[in-house]
Amino acid sequence: YNRNEKQVFSPDDPVQVIFRYKDVTTAYHGVKRARFNGKGALTSQISALLLGYLNENGVDTHFIRTLSDEREQLCRMIEIIPLEVVFHNRICGSLATKLGVEDGMKPENTILDLCYNNDELGDPLINRDQAVALKLATYPELDMMYDIVRRSGQLLTDLLHQAGIELVDAKFEFGRAADTGAIIISDELSPDTCRMWDEETGERLDKDRFRLDLGDLVPSYSIVLEKLRNVMETEE
Ligand code: C5P
Repeated sequence: YNRNEKQVFSPDDPVQVIFRYKDVTTAYHGVKRARFNGKGALTSQISALLLGYLNENGVDTHFIRTLSDEREQLCRMIEIIPLEVVFHNRICGSLATKLGVEDGMKPENTILDLCYNNDELGDPLINRDQAVALKLATYPELDMMYDIVRRSGQLLTDLLHQAGIELVDAKFEFGRAADTGAIIISDELSPDTCRMWDEETGERLDKDRFRLDLGDLVPSYSIVLEKLRNVMETEE
């Protein structure tokens, strides 16, 4: 099937899939759309580093490895759970609008939001009881998802901080692994799905370059990849 920013193929193995990251970018639930040459290669490589880092640090994701074309990844097949959990270190974007606070306000706690992944409805915010009522997940699965997001959010915040990048927020998706049934992180983790700010300059290095028409999307994503590579290579 073909989702907006990625294409999915089935290889021969029944419990694996191939994701191809595309140059298409969408915002505001598909209302705004554009193509950026080279964007897919960048989000694929950033996502590979971040998902790989979580795998190595005890949080299982669907990511297995990058293929010879750097835009493609071999991933574990999952049964999709149509929910998103958004982790916020700062209150930005739609949450700032909703709460009527300044964009970028930094609360003392972290905030987790649960959304129903449904384009037609505009991915609305829902709660645990509503998710269970729709049979999207069970209460124990929701507990597990929240626990995974808290651990991953902290791991990624710390890793990006070492790279001189502030993780402002991050969107997580999940599935049940086809082979074990375990709840694992799916989809991608990149500047298309997480807000990332340069700690030194305060510049936005994420999809807000497109949402807010700030320009320089590809150069900003390149900075994220380069900064991440610098810290991850010295760690090994
Ligand atoms: O759009 P909003 O301000 O609610 O986004 C919060 C965070 O979740 C941002 O990092 C955004 O990129 C991500 N997000 C996403 N996909 C969505 C909704 C939000 O990646 N459907």
